[in-house]
Amino acid sequence: MTDLAQTLRDRWSPTAWDGEHVLQPIDVERLVEAARWSPSAGNSQPWTFITAPRGDTLHERLVPLLAPSARRWAPDASLLVVNVCHRYVEGTDWDSSEFAEYDLGQSVAHMTLQAMSMGLFSRQFRAFDREAVERELGVPEHWVAMTITAIGRPAQEPPLEGRVRRPLDDVWWR
Ligand SMILES: Cc1cc2nc3c(=O)[nH]c(=O)nc-3n(C[C@H](O)[C@H](O)[C@H](O)COP(=O)(O)O)c2cc1C
Repeated sequence: MTDLAQTLRDRWSPTAWDGEHVLQPIDVERLVEAARWSPSAGNSQPWTFITAPRGDTLHERLVPLLAPSARRWAPDASLLVVNVCHRYVEGTDWDSSEFAEYDLGQSVAHMTLQAMSMGLFSRQFRAFDREAVERELGVPEHWVAMTITAIGRPAQEPPLEGRVRRPLDDVWWR
């Protein structure tokens, strides 16, 4: 890890948050801007983001739809971002782009790294009732609420151990 960019070295996904920390609207906009400038296949930009700052009514509507495992920690984060992907062609069940999820994931990665540059950490998660979230937030039929990102200031120390990865030779066929 030592030769990686500092942002990548420092990144980890917290599960305990400073519940007093508040994000300003301009900071939320900056995060979405980072995602907006991410590359995508044919510049298709098959994404949209729904931001729910802690204390907002949208946040209150979202929290009950989280799975119990995420409800234990995600609500304390300063911001929940629902990451929505334009997966299907309108009126059909055909994929609108074979790269839609790939592109969304990359844009979320950009948001995550922008957050790091603002002193914020993120944890992405899938532990929520997808259909209920889509219904509650009015996500159109051909769009999919793929993941949620919790963003804020951690209220725990970075893990010194326990973050493991497959060996380099396993992920690098050379
Ligand atoms: C698509 C995706 C879904 C995830 N879902 C969950 C989840 O439901 N619950 C959770 O606690 N963490 C979830 N995570 C976080 C991962 O567990 C975490 O990123 C991984 O263990 C690596 O740890 P690190 O981010 O600290 O390096 C998810 C991450 C991604 C990218």
